[in-house]
Amino acid sequence: MYKIVKREEMAHGTIILNEIEAPQIAKKAKPGQFVMLIADETGERIPLTMAEVNKEKGTITIIYMIIGKSTRLFATLKVGEGYKDIVGPLGQPTHIEKKGTVVCVGGGTGTAVLHPITRGMYEAGNKVISIVGARNTDYIIMRDQMDAASDELRICTDDGSEGRHGFVTDELREVLENNEVAEVVAIGPVPMMKFVSLLTKEYNVPTTVSLNPIMIDGTGMCGGCRVTIGGKTKFACVDGPEFDGHQVDFDGLMRRLQAYRVEEEHSDNCMFEKEA
Ligand code: NAD
Ligand code: FES
Repeated sequence: MYKIVKREEMAHGTIILNEIEAPQIAKKAKPGQFVMLIADETGERIPLTMAEVNKEKGTITIIYMIIGKSTRLFATLKVGEGYKDIVGPLGQPTHIEKKGTVVCVGGGTGTAVLHPITRGMYEAGNKVISIVGARNTDYIIMRDQMDAASDELRICTDDGSEGRHGFVTDELREVLENNEVAEVVAIGPVPMMKFVSLLTKEYNVPTTVSLNPIMIDGTGMCGGCRVTIGGKTKFACVDGPEFDGHQVDFDGLMRRLQAYRVEEEHSDNCMFEKEA
Protein backbone atom coordinates (compact mmCIF):
# COMPACT_ATOMS: atom_id res chain seq x y z
CA MET A 1 0.00 0.00 0.00
CA TYR A 2 1.15 3.55 -0.77
CA LYS A 3 0.20 5.56 2.34
CA ILE A 4 -1.37 9.03 2.17
CA VAL A 5 0.53 11.34 4.57
CA LYS A 6 -1.34 14.56 3.76
CA ARG A 7 -4.79 15.28 2.34
CA GLU A 8 -6.18 18.72 1.51
CA GLU A 9 -9.46 19.81 -0.01
CA MET A 10 -9.66 22.83 -2.30
CA ALA A 11 -12.37 24.59 -4.30
CA HIS A 12 -15.24 23.63 -1.96
CA GLY A 13 -14.05 20.00 -1.75
CA THR A 14 -14.09 19.42 -5.53
CA ILE A 15 -10.29 19.34 -5.86
CA ILE A 16 -8.20 17.02 -3.66
CA LEU A 17 -4.47 17.02 -2.87
CA ASN A 18 -2.80 13.80 -1.70
CA GLU A 19 0.83 13.60 -0.61
CA ILE A 20 1.75 9.92 -0.80
CA GLU A 21 4.72 7.87 0.46
CA ALA A 22 6.40 6.46 -2.65
CA PRO A 23 10.20 6.68 -2.12
CA GLN A 24 11.27 4.67 -5.16
CA ILE A 25 9.13 6.83 -7.49
CA ALA A 26 10.19 10.08 -5.78
CA LYS A 27 13.85 9.15 -6.22
CA LYS A 28 13.54 8.92 -10.02
CA ALA A 29 10.71 11.35 -10.91
CA LYS A 30 11.39 14.36 -13.13
CA PRO A 31 9.11 17.32 -14.05
CA GLY A 32 6.43 16.35 -16.60
CA GLN A 33 6.28 12.66 -15.68
CA PHE A 34 3.17 10.88 -14.44
CA VAL A 35 2.10 7.90 -12.32
CA MET A 36 -0.80 5.45 -12.64
CA LEU A 37 -2.79 4.79 -9.49
CA ILE A 38 -5.34 2.17 -8.37
CA ALA A 39 -7.33 2.81 -5.19
CA ASP A 40 -8.28 -0.81 -4.50
CA GLU A 41 -8.52 -4.17 -6.25
CA THR A 42 -11.79 -3.14 -7.97
CA GLY A 43 -10.47 0.23 -9.13
CA GLU A 44 -9.39 1.30 -12.62
CA ARG A 45 -5.96 2.68 -13.42
CA ILE A 46 -5.90 6.48 -13.47
CA PRO A 47 -2.93 8.48 -14.85
CA LEU A 48 -2.01 11.66 -12.97
CA THR A 49 1.01 13.88 -13.47
CA MET A 50 2.86 14.64 -10.25
CA ALA A 51 2.42 18.18 -8.89
CA GLU A 52 5.31 17.90 -6.43
CA VAL A 53 8.07 15.45 -5.58
CA ASN A 54 9.99 15.45 -2.28
CA LYS A 55 13.04 13.25 -2.69
CA GLU A 56 14.16 13.73 0.96
CA LYS A 57 10.78 12.70 2.40
CA GLY A 58 10.24 10.09 -0.31
CA THR A 59 6.80 11.46 -1.23
CA ILE A 60 4.92 12.47 -4.35
CA THR A 61 1.94 14.82 -4.52
CA ILE A 62 -1.05 14.51 -6.84
CA ILE A 63 -3.92 16.95 -7.26
CA TYR A 64 -7.14 15.91 -8.98
CA MET A 65 -10.67 17.14 -9.54
CA ILE A 66 -13.50 14.77 -8.58
CA ILE A 67 -15.11 14.08 -11.96
CA GLY A 68 -16.13 10.41 -12.09
CA LYS A 69 -16.33 7.07 -10.31
CA SER A 70 -12.58 6.55 -9.80
CA THR A 71 -11.77 10.04 -8.57
CA ARG A 72 -14.78 9.82 -6.21
CA LEU A 73 -13.27 6.59 -4.88
CA PHE A 74 -9.85 8.29 -4.54
CA ALA A 75 -11.53 11.11 -2.60
CA THR A 76 -12.77 8.66 0.08
CA LEU A 77 -9.17 7.78 1.07
CA LYS A 78 -8.06 9.41 4.33
CA VAL A 79 -4.61 10.17 5.80
CA GLY A 80 -3.12 6.84 6.95
CA GLU A 81 -5.04 4.93 4.27
CA GLY A 82 -3.55 4.54 0.83
CA TYR A 83 -3.53 3.48 -2.80
CA LYS A 84 -3.25 -0.23 -3.54
CA ASP A 85 -0.78 0.30 -6.38
CA ILE A 86 1.13 3.15 -7.97
CA VAL A 87 3.31 2.67 -11.06
CA GLY A 88 5.83 5.25 -12.19
CA PRO A 89 7.45 7.51 -13.00
CA LEU A 90 6.08 7.12 -16.55
CA GLY A 91 6.40 9.17 -19.73
CA GLN A 92 9.12 11.49 -20.98
CA PRO A 93 10.31 14.29 -18.69
CA THR A 94 9.99 17.92 -19.82
CA HIS A 95 12.89 19.25 -21.86
CA ILE A 96 14.15 22.02 -19.55
CA GLU A 97 16.93 24.41 -20.52
CA LYS A 98 17.72 28.13 -20.46
CA LYS A 99 15.91 29.71 -23.40
CA GLY A 100 15.12 33.29 -22.36
CA THR A 101 11.55 34.25 -21.54
CA VAL A 102 9.22 31.29 -21.00
CA VAL A 103 5.48 31.71 -20.49
CA CYS A 104 3.77 28.98 -18.42
CA VAL A 105 -0.01 28.85 -18.88
CA GLY A 106 -2.16 26.75 -16.52
CA GLY A 107 -5.91 26.18 -16.70
CA GLY A 108 -7.85 24.81 -13.70
CA THR A 109 -6.28 21.64 -12.28
CA GLY A 110 -3.79 21.65 -15.18
CA THR A 111 -1.88 24.17 -13.03
CA ALA A 112 -0.87 21.30 -10.70
CA VAL A 113 0.86 19.58 -13.63
CA LEU A 114 2.42 22.86 -14.76
CA HIS A 115 3.96 23.67 -11.38
CA PRO A 116 7.10 21.42 -11.41
CA ILE A 117 7.78 22.44 -15.03
CA THR A 118 7.48 26.13 -14.12
CA ARG A 119 9.90 25.66 -11.23
CA GLY A 120 12.30 23.74 -13.48
CA MET A 121 12.23 26.56 -16.07
CA TYR A 122 12.81 29.16 -13.34
CA GLU A 123 15.69 27.23 -11.73
CA ALA A 124 17.29 26.84 -15.19
CA GLY A 125 17.62 30.65 -15.32
CA ASN A 126 14.71 31.55 -17.60
CA LYS A 127 12.55 34.63 -17.06
CA VAL A 128 9.23 32.98 -16.25
CA ILE A 129 5.89 34.70 -16.77
CA SER A 130 3.06 32.50 -15.48
CA ILE A 131 -0.60 32.87 -16.42
CA VAL A 132 -3.07 30.89 -14.32
CA GLY A 133 -6.78 30.73 -15.18
CA ALA A 134 -9.82 29.26 -13.44
CA ARG A 135 -13.59 29.65 -13.39
CA ASN A 136 -13.36 31.80 -10.23
CA THR A 137 -10.96 32.77 -7.45
CA ASP A 138 -11.80 29.64 -5.35
CA TYR A 139 -10.57 27.39 -8.18
CA ILE A 140 -7.09 28.95 -8.47
CA ILE A 141 -4.74 26.28 -7.14
CA MET A 142 -1.02 26.35 -6.16
CA ARG A 143 -1.03 30.15 -6.22
CA ASP A 144 1.88 30.53 -3.74
CA GLN A 145 3.96 27.79 -5.36
CA MET A 146 3.43 29.27 -8.85
CA ASP A 147 4.28 32.74 -7.53
CA ALA A 148 7.52 31.45 -5.99
CA ALA A 149 8.49 29.76 -9.27
CA SER A 150 7.80 32.79 -11.51
CA ASP A 151 9.16 36.28 -12.12
CA GLU A 152 5.57 37.39 -12.75
CA LEU A 153 2.27 35.66 -11.96
CA ARG A 154 -0.87 36.80 -13.77
CA ILE A 155 -4.30 35.49 -12.75
CA CYS A 156 -7.42 35.27 -14.97
CA THR A 157 -10.92 34.23 -13.91
CA ASP A 158 -13.93 33.48 -16.09
CA ASP A 159 -16.20 35.56 -13.80
CA GLY A 160 -13.74 38.38 -13.01
CA SER A 161 -13.62 37.52 -9.29
CA GLU A 162 -9.80 37.87 -9.38
CA GLY A 163 -7.25 39.23 -11.84
CA ARG A 164 -8.22 39.64 -15.47
CA HIS A 165 -11.86 38.98 -16.35
CA GLY A 166 -11.40 36.49 -19.20
CA PHE A 167 -9.60 33.42 -20.48
CA VAL A 168 -5.85 32.80 -20.22
CA THR A 169 -5.61 33.37 -23.98
CA ASP A 170 -6.62 37.04 -23.49
CA GLU A 171 -3.73 37.57 -21.09
CA LEU A 172 -1.34 35.54 -23.24
CA ARG A 173 -2.01 37.73 -26.29
CA GLU A 174 -0.97 40.79 -24.26
CA VAL A 175 2.22 39.04 -23.07
CA LEU A 176 3.10 37.95 -26.63
CA GLU A 177 2.52 41.50 -27.92
CA ASN A 178 4.92 43.00 -25.36
CA ASN A 179 7.68 40.41 -24.88
CA GLU A 180 10.17 38.39 -26.88
CA VAL A 181 8.97 34.91 -25.84
CA ALA A 182 11.17 31.85 -26.44
CA GLU A 183 8.58 29.19 -25.48
CA VAL A 184 5.06 28.78 -24.15
CA VAL A 185 4.14 25.75 -22.01
CA ALA A 186 0.37 25.29 -21.68
CA ILE A 187 -1.44 22.68 -19.56
CA GLY A 188 -5.17 22.57 -18.86
CA PRO A 189 -8.43 21.65 -20.59
CA VAL A 190 -8.02 20.49 -24.21
CA PRO A 191 -9.90 23.51 -25.67
CA MET A 192 -7.55 25.82 -23.74
CA MET A 193 -4.44 24.07 -25.09
CA LYS A 194 -5.93 24.17 -28.61
CA PHE A 195 -6.61 27.92 -28.50
CA VAL A 196 -3.26 28.71 -26.84
CA SER A 197 -1.53 26.79 -29.65
CA LEU A 198 -3.54 28.60 -32.37
CA LEU A 199 -2.56 31.93 -30.79
CA THR A 200 1.15 31.17 -30.41
CA LYS A 201 1.22 29.98 -34.03
CA GLU A 202 0.24 33.52 -35.07
CA TYR A 203 3.34 34.77 -33.19
CA ASN A 204 5.54 31.85 -34.29
CA VAL A 205 6.40 30.92 -30.69
CA PRO A 206 7.26 27.24 -29.96
CA THR A 207 4.60 25.73 -27.71
CA THR A 208 4.56 22.64 -25.51
CA VAL A 209 1.33 21.05 -24.28
CA SER A 210 0.72 18.03 -22.00
CA LEU A 211 -1.95 15.65 -23.29
CA ASN A 212 -4.29 13.60 -21.12
CA PRO A 213 -5.96 10.94 -23.32
CA ILE A 214 -7.57 7.84 -21.82
CA MET A 215 -4.78 5.46 -20.71
CA ILE A 216 -4.97 1.76 -19.82
CA ASP A 217 -1.53 0.18 -19.35
CA GLY A 218 0.57 3.38 -19.48
CA THR A 219 3.50 1.51 -21.02
CA GLY A 220 2.89 1.67 -24.79
CA MET A 221 1.20 -1.73 -25.19
CA CYS A 222 -2.57 -1.13 -25.56
CA GLY A 223 -2.74 1.84 -27.95
CA GLY A 224 -5.53 3.41 -25.87
CA CYS A 225 -3.70 6.72 -25.50
CA ARG A 226 -2.95 7.23 -29.21
CA VAL A 227 -2.90 10.81 -30.41
CA THR A 228 -2.15 12.30 -33.82
CA ILE A 229 0.90 14.56 -33.92
CA GLY A 230 1.88 16.11 -37.24
CA GLY A 231 -0.25 13.46 -39.03
CA LYS A 232 1.53 10.57 -37.27
CA THR A 233 0.19 8.31 -34.52
CA LYS A 234 1.99 8.64 -31.18
CA PHE A 235 1.33 7.08 -27.77
CA ALA A 236 1.02 9.77 -25.10
CA CYS A 237 2.18 7.41 -22.33
CA VAL A 238 5.59 6.65 -23.83
CA ASP A 239 6.16 9.33 -26.52
CA GLY A 240 4.59 12.07 -24.37
CA PRO A 241 2.69 13.27 -22.45
CA GLU A 242 4.23 16.51 -23.82
CA PHE A 243 4.08 17.39 -27.50
CA ASP A 244 4.51 20.32 -29.86
CA GLY A 245 1.15 22.12 -29.58
CA HIS A 246 1.34 23.27 -33.21
CA GLN A 247 1.34 19.63 -34.38
CA VAL A 248 -1.45 18.20 -32.18
CA ASP A 249 -4.82 17.11 -33.60
CA PHE A 250 -6.84 18.54 -30.68
CA ASP A 251 -10.23 17.83 -32.28
CA GLY A 252 -9.32 14.12 -32.62
CA LEU A 253 -8.21 14.07 -28.97
CA MET A 254 -11.51 15.65 -27.88
CA ARG A 255 -13.49 13.02 -29.82
CA ARG A 256 -11.51 10.16 -28.24
CA LEU A 257 -11.98 11.63 -24.74
CA GLN A 258 -15.77 11.53 -25.30
CA ALA A 259 -15.75 7.89 -26.54
CA TYR A 260 -16.77 6.27 -23.22
CA ARG A 261 -18.85 9.15 -21.82
CA VAL A 262 -22.07 7.02 -21.68
CA GLU A 263 -20.29 4.10 -19.96
CA GLU A 264 -18.52 6.50 -17.56
CA GLU A 265 -21.83 8.11 -16.57
CA HIS A 266 -23.47 4.69 -16.16
CA SER A 267 -20.63 3.47 -13.94
CA ASP A 268 -20.78 6.67 -11.86
CA ASN A 269 -24.57 6.36 -11.45
CA CYS A 270 -24.21 2.71 -10.35
CA MET A 271 -21.80 3.87 -7.61
CA PHE A 272 -24.35 6.50 -6.50
CA GLU A 273 -27.13 3.85 -6.42
CA LYS A 274 -24.92 1.52 -4.35
CA GLU A 275 -24.24 4.31 -1.84
CA ALA A 276 -27.94 5.35 -1.62
P1 NAD B 1 -11.89 24.98 -16.67
O1 NAD B 1 -12.80 24.44 -17.71
O2 NAD B 1 -12.46 25.71 -15.51
O3 NAD B 1 -10.84 25.92 -17.43
C1 NAD B 1 -9.74 26.50 -16.74
C2 NAD B 1 -9.27 27.69 -17.52
O4 NAD B 1 -8.81 27.30 -18.80
C3 NAD B 1 -10.33 28.75 -17.79
O5 NAD B 1 -10.50 29.57 -16.67
C4 NAD B 1 -9.75 29.49 -18.99
O6 NAD B 1 -8.84 30.48 -18.62
C5 NAD B 1 -9.03 28.37 -19.72
N1 NAD B 1 -9.88 27.90 -20.84
C6 NAD B 1 -10.86 26.97 -20.79
N2 NAD B 1 -11.42 26.85 -22.02
C7 NAD B 1 -10.78 27.72 -22.84
C8 NAD B 1 -10.90 28.07 -24.20
N3 NAD B 1 -11.82 27.52 -25.00
N4 NAD B 1 -10.07 29.03 -24.70
C9 NAD B 1 -9.13 29.60 -23.91
N5 NAD B 1 -8.97 29.31 -22.60
C10 NAD B 1 -9.79 28.40 -22.07
O7 NAD B 1 -10.94 23.85 -16.14
P2 NAD B 1 -11.29 22.81 -14.99
O8 NAD B 1 -12.76 22.65 -14.82
O9 NAD B 1 -10.44 23.07 -13.82
O10 NAD B 1 -10.85 21.48 -15.66
C11 NAD B 1 -9.55 21.13 -15.71
C12 NAD B 1 -9.34 20.47 -17.05
O11 NAD B 1 -7.97 20.33 -17.19
C13 NAD B 1 -10.00 19.14 -17.22
O12 NAD B 1 -10.57 19.11 -18.51
C14 NAD B 1 -8.84 18.18 -17.13
O13 NAD B 1 -9.00 17.04 -17.92
C15 NAD B 1 -7.72 19.04 -17.65
N6 NAD B 1 -6.42 18.64 -17.14
C16 NAD B 1 -5.48 18.41 -18.05
C17 NAD B 1 -4.25 18.01 -17.64
C18 NAD B 1 -3.22 17.72 -18.67
O14 NAD B 1 -2.24 17.09 -18.36
N7 NAD B 1 -3.41 18.19 -19.87
C19 NAD B 1 -3.96 17.85 -16.29
C20 NAD B 1 -4.95 18.14 -15.36
C21 NAD B 1 -6.20 18.54 -15.80
FE1 FES C 1 -1.65 1.92 -23.49
FE2 FES C 1 -0.46 4.27 -23.82
S1 FES C 1 -1.90 3.71 -22.29
S2 FES C 1 -0.35 2.53 -25.10
